[in-house]
This record gives sequence, C-alpha cells and structure tokens, in this order.
Amino acid sequence: MEITVANHPLIAHKVTLLRDINTTSSQFRQLVEELVTLLTFEATKSLATEEIEVETPLTKTTGTRLAKPTPLIIPILRAGLGMLSGITKLLPDAEVGFLGIKRNEETLQPETYANRLPDDLTGRQVILIDPMLATGGTLNDSLDYAFERGARSATCICLLGAPEGVDAVSKHVVDKWPDKQVSIHLAALDQKLNDIGYIVPGLGDAGDRLYGTSGD
Ligand code: URA
Repeated sequence: MEITVANHPLIAHKVTLLRDINTTSSQFRQLVEELVTLLTFEATKSLATEEIEVETPLTKTTGTRLAKPTPLIIPILRAGLGMLSGITKLLPDAEVGFLGIKRNEETLQPETYANRLPDDLTGRQVILIDPMLATGGTLNDSLDYAFERGARSATCICLLGAPEGVDAVSKHVVDKWPDKQVSIHLAALDQKLNDIGYIVPGLGDAGDRLYGTSGD
C-alpha cells in the first residue's frame, strides 16, 4: 500500500488554518474544498487513461482522456460530503456513490447506516474521501464494501491521519486485499490518537466544524 503525505507550502498553510479553533465554519468549508482539490491532483496521477484522436484548428493529433468507466467517488458521510465539491472540480464526470458510516463513540467501532454504492464495481477505480483517518475502522469497512463489489483499486484522500489509523489500514489491506492497489493521500500525518479516538493535534470533530454544529 502506498502512503503519500503532502509536502507543499500551500497545503501546510491551509492545514494550519484548518486546525485553528478560531477558524469559522464557512472558512473551514472553503479550506477543505481547496485542500481536497490540491490533494486530488497528486492522488489521481495513476488514473487509467486512453488515447483519443482530437482535431485542433490546425490538424488532427493524438490526445489523452480518462478511461471509461470514470472513477467512482465515494464520500463517507457525514464529513466526507464536505470534500465532494473539491474533488468534482477536477473530476466533473465522475460518478458518486455514498457510504454513511458513523463511529460508535463508546466502542469506537464503525457502524454503517447508509450504503448507496452500485452493486457491481467490477474493474472500477474508486476514490474514497473522508477528512479524518483516525482508528482506520471506517476506511477498512469502506474498502471492504468497494472490493467485495469488485473494485480494482482504491485511492483514499484524507486530510489528517493518525499513525495508528495508517497502520490499521495497511495491515487490513495486506491481510484481506493483498492483490488490490490501495493508496492513501494525506495533507498531514499527525502525532497520535487520544483515548477517545481523536487525532492529536488534529482539528477536532471534522463534521461539527464543517457544519457548524459545535456552535460557530
Ligand atoms: N473524527 C473526527 O472528526 N476527528 C477526529 O479527530 C477523529 C475522528
């Protein structure tokens, strides 16, 4: 499994603003959108392409387009929804499926409450978007949903990751999906999880900060 942690001044600057407790919900949403667009550029560098003929005003030439079927983007609700506009800016023709997975705050185990994925994902490239890679439980369940339906590869775009979560996903992929191509792209890799499963230093609850439910 390939793990990429961004190393770019723009991303570092925006991540710092995202962490700041004084950043308002509307600024937070804007920053998430911008960060996802920046991360998508790198994360999509292995998307399948095909050659096409294109006619310029001067001549015919050979060009490139994304191979069909286009990738399926899967935001993991609720916080992943805040990342959707940032990725569809660069992939306007991608289809979108939804997974609703919430964490049981006592057991920290993921619980699925919505699944709107196509039944057949044979050969498809999927892109999972979820801002926080904390314990890795949500991402592992999401990878299972995609690969059980036949997806060929999964690109995971997250904003912050904890080392514990990255390790849990790596182990899960090696144990359960050794033949699948999986990559994780992070804006930053943080220090640790605290004892209630929050990423430290982190940014708090991504869903609350996106949707203003913590009282912004
Ligand atoms: N989910 C969040 O929103 N924040 C964390 O720190 C961990 C999981």
